[in-house]
Amino acid sequence: MKHHDYSDLIRPGVAGLVPYTPGQPIEQLERTLGISDAIKLASNENPLGPSPKARAAMEHHLDTLNVYPDADGFELKQRLAQRHGLPPECITLGNGSNELLILLAQVFLSEQTSAVFSQYGFAVYPIVTQMMGANALVVPAHNLDHPMALGHDLRAMYAAIEPTTRVVFVANPNNPTGTWLQRDRLHDFIASLPPQVICVVDEAYTEYCEPEEVGDAASWVPSFPNLVVTRTFSKAYGLAGLRIGYALSNPGVADMLNRVRPTFNVNALGLVAARAALDDDDFLIQSKNINRAGLAQLEEGLKALGLAYTPSRANFVLTHFDRPAQGLADRLAHFGVIVRPVANYGLPNALRISVGTQEQNSRCLDALGQCLA
Ligand SMILES: Cc1ncc(COP(=O)(O)O)c(C=O)c1O
Repeated sequence: MKHHDYSDLIRPGVAGLVPYTPGQPIEQLERTLGISDAIKLASNENPLGPSPKARAAMEHHLDTLNVYPDADGFELKQRLAQRHGLPPECITLGNGSNELLILLAQVFLSEQTSAVFSQYGFAVYPIVTQMMGANALVVPAHNLDHPMALGHDLRAMYAAIEPTTRVVFVANPNNPTGTWLQRDRLHDFIASLPPQVICVVDEAYTEYCEPEEVGDAASWVPSFPNLVVTRTFSKAYGLAGLRIGYALSNPGVADMLNRVRPTFNVNALGLVAARAALDDDDFLIQSKNINRAGLAQLEEGLKALGLAYTPSRANFVLTHFDRPAQGLADRLAHFGVIVRPVANYGLPNALRISVGTQEQNSRCLDALGQCLA
């Protein structure tokens, strides 16, 4: 069909947007190569599959899928409120935590405002900032001499705040670098922010971490009215396909988010599965253990191949090469191994490798060895 150009008619921020590139679907690669055993270590998904309790809850719910979901997510919010020791009015549910980042931008950002985030910060921060026409104040990450190379430089982020700044995005740990922030440093940073600056602490990978090390920003919500913490069921809970996440904040912020939230943004299966997953402690422990072992396995293997990597507290490892890595990703795909090039983050010489099962990690390392030989 003829392509009509609508770029003159739209909001200025939208015209310059580059759509987010997700990992290549496994079925697509299998069709192309005519194979059936490809592995995808490209989207930071849980190699264990979904929590068995979540699966059972969904099966139980199938007969009532003709009914709209509970728009308020009452049951799930009650359970989350209990988990975090916060009233349900502090919780906003989202279609993945990605949607919450969009809602936050819609509520707080406009052409007259700015948002602060780090170089190499999660890709959605620049997208939602630009979407709203706000000014992006991108702060250089720690340089390679720093122990937390490529990670957020909180001091520089604080210094970058302008009178127009309404939102600071902080990922702990960050994607695609896997870098994290020390508990006390992050706490002091949040405490130092002016009250009109909303601090979004994105804790998508926090279940893999030790709270004594990275902090538990969710527990600081009662202390800071301008703190919003986003969490997800996509990673350690293994429910990425259901698209469900939540934000914890002061009830006043939650009220604003609720005004722009699509009424039925979280689907019925997502609500019951997330509710059940919160009771599946065994699964969460297993997720954490397999991830810890897998990170160690990947790091050992990369070292043995003479490759540099950024130490990670998430469920992936950013691996560095001495030349552009897209060709290597293409060669790995011929071995049935999908990993994620991150040139879109300004890291053309790196690949992000998600932690899989022990067998998948071995296969990835073997393929990498063969591609580099
Ligand atoms: C740092 C970070 N935040 C948020 C998200 C969004 O995840 P979801 O929308 O699945 O909750 C991701 C996904 O990869 C992420 O890496």
